[in-house]
Amino acid sequence: MAKCQLLLLFLVFLLLAAHAKSCHPDDLRALQGFAGNLGGGGALLRAAWSGASCCGWEGVGCDGGRGRVTVLRLPGYGLSGPVPGASLGGLAQLEELFLGSNSFTGSLPTSLFSLVGLQKLSFESNQLTGQLSTHLQELKNLTLLDLSVNRFSGRLPDVFHDLTSLIHLSMHSNGFSGSLPPSLSSLLSLRELNLENNSLSGPIARVNFSGMPLLASVDFSTNNLSGSLPVSLADCSALKSLTLANNQLVGTIPSWIGELDNLRCLDISNNSLVGEVPKGLTCLKCLATADRSVGMAFTNMPLYVKRNRRVLQQQPNVLSGSNNTVRSGGGNVLSGDNNTVISGNNNTLSGTNNTVVSGSNNVLTGSHHVVSGSNNVVSDTSHVVNGSSNTVSGRNNMVTGNNNTVSGSNHVVSGNNKVITGG
Ligand SMILES: *[C@@H]1O[C@H](CO)[C@@H](O)[C@H](O)[C@H]1NC(C)=O
Ligand SMILES: *[C@@H]1O[C@H](CO)[C@@H](O)[C@H](O)[C@H]1NC(C)=O
Ligand SMILES: *[C@@H]1O[C@H](CO)[C@@H](O)[C@H](O)[C@H]1NC(C)=O
Ligand SMILES: *[C@@H]1O[C@H](CO)[C@@H](O)[C@H](O)[C@H]1NC(C)=O
Ligand SMILES: *[C@@H]1O[C@H](CO)[C@@H](O)[C@H](O)[C@H]1NC(C)=O
Ligand SMILES: *[C@@H]1O[C@H](CO)[C@@H](O)[C@H](O)[C@H]1NC(C)=O
Ligand SMILES: *[C@@H]1O[C@H](CO)[C@@H](O)[C@H](O)[C@H]1NC(C)=O
Ligand SMILES: *[C@@H]1O[C@H](CO)[C@@H](O)[C@H](O)[C@H]1NC(C)=O
Ligand SMILES: *[C@@H]1O[C@H](CO)[C@@H](O)[C@H](O)[C@H]1NC(C)=O
Ligand SMILES: *[C@@H]1O[C@H](CO)[C@@H](O)[C@H](O)[C@H]1NC(C)=O
Ligand SMILES: *[C@@H]1O[C@H](CO)[C@@H](O)[C@H](O)[C@H]1NC(C)=O
Repeated sequence: MAKCQLLLLFLVFLLLAAHAKSCHPDDLRALQGFAGNLGGGGALLRAAWSGASCCGWEGVGCDGGRGRVTVLRLPGYGLSGPVPGASLGGLAQLEELFLGSNSFTGSLPTSLFSLVGLQKLSFESNQLTGQLSTHLQELKNLTLLDLSVNRFSGRLPDVFHDLTSLIHLSMHSNGFSGSLPPSLSSLLSLRELNLENNSLSGPIARVNFSGMPLLASVDFSTNNLSGSLPVSLADCSALKSLTLANNQLVGTIPSWIGELDNLRCLDISNNSLVGEVPKGLTCLKCLATADRSVGMAFTNMPLYVKRNRRVLQQQPNVLSGSNNTVRSGGGNVLSGDNNTVISGNNNTLSGTNNTVVSGSNNVLTGSHHVVSGSNNVVSDTSHVVNGSSNTVSGRNNMVTGNNNTVSGSNHVVSGNNKVITGG
């Protein structure tokens, strides 16, 4: 009798387990339809998705009780062909759709925008084309939208008014053109906004950043945006990274930039901005302000590349201007004249009349540099080198200090030096 009860219990358990893993019939049909139409890795997916226990299928997630599919996560599965819109549209309770790093082609199907419960939608790194539908406005619960690295084109639709839950919005590396949609200003929950590497034009100030108190990262670099830096950015006190390089921005570098307490990374290079970087910018990890376009180099700019509060990816400066001062930065490349590096290491300086104060491992070419510090490599002519263990070549240099290696001719050498060749 006990054995029978045990067997019965076991059967009930099996039934329950099977039931828990099988999804709603509508969702089962939708998933089968989705996999059935896919090229590339679709064959593997069809093989993996057998039986009816679809809640247990690879990449599929269900809510606990009702067997409704809420998550479909198949990044990098080699899936190709058009996005099977009609099938995806059948996953009525879908909340998260991650189909990045596949090879989907064609446009985003309209039926996708009927999935109004969607919170996270990523198609990054596919080959999607066409315009972004105005139906995007239906997806009011979106917290993440990532359409970066595709081939979308046309204007960004001005439909962001109601997408107030959006936290991450990334559409970089597409062919979007036209001006910035003003409704982006409504994204009050936004933390990350990346529109880098498109062909967006018109005034950057079409977006009012005042209503985005949580905004931590803005990347509009490599577009065609114009106008001056919008003062509304001054209200984004959480801003950590501001990247606006490679646009057509004009005007002065505003003082409020120095008041963004959390800013760690600022790249406003290759614009037509003038003026000095405010002294308040004393804690930046990466600061790139030089105008790299020929003939428009920054001049007379004190660049404070400061101690970092936190480890971020190193992004050294590339300076082609003159009379700049770099304080305690490393790995900078300076090609202009009359620049000064104060206690920086591993910098590369060419040009003339540059000064290195107590830096080490710098490489200087060009002429008339004044170098102190150690382990610098100095070539060409007429340098003044103080310090130790420098390698100096060229002509007419004045070398003091110890353990320097000097070659070339007409040097004035003092100290206890290691190797002297030449005259
Ligand atoms: C959107 O989110 C809200 C709040 O979390 C929720 O009440 C609502 O049901 C969601 N809408 C849909 C269509 O899932
Ligand atoms: C810019 O976008 C184009 C088109 O998507 C892409 O081919 C290119 O690699 C991107 N460049 C960078 C630097 O991301
Ligand atoms: C930027 O705009 C100028 C004219 O305003 C145009 O000639 C140029 O092709 C545009 N560049 C890009 C990358 O869109
Ligand atoms: C930007 O929005 C704020 C409110 O969030 C408003 O006070 C301000 O006037 C707006 N600025 C511009 C330039 O429209
Ligand atoms: C400067 O930005 C323009 C786009 O505005 C781009 O075409 C050009 O390659 C950039 N130059 C450098 C040196 O990055
Ligand atoms: C750089 O400074 C020197 C003197 O300190 C000055 O003669 C020169 O004009 C300045 N160069 C530029 C481009 O402003
Ligand atoms: C560098 O400074 C010297 C004098 O200190 C000045 O004669 C020269 O014009 C300056 N060069 C530049 C490019 O500013
Ligand atoms: C600077 O260069 C030296 C030798 O070339 C190297 O050992 C050191 O790691 C470099 N430091 C940085 C911060 O790149
Ligand atoms: C370098 O400085 C010397 C004098 O100190 C000046 O004659 C020369 O013009 C300067 N070179 C440049 C390119 O600024
Ligand atoms: C180099 O050292 C000499 C003697 O100690 C000193 O007079 C001179 O000012 C130094 N030059 C530099 C550029 O530090
Ligand atoms: C120079 O080299 C000698 C030994 O070769 C060493 O004892 C001394 O500390 C070195 N001096 C400097 C300033 O590097």
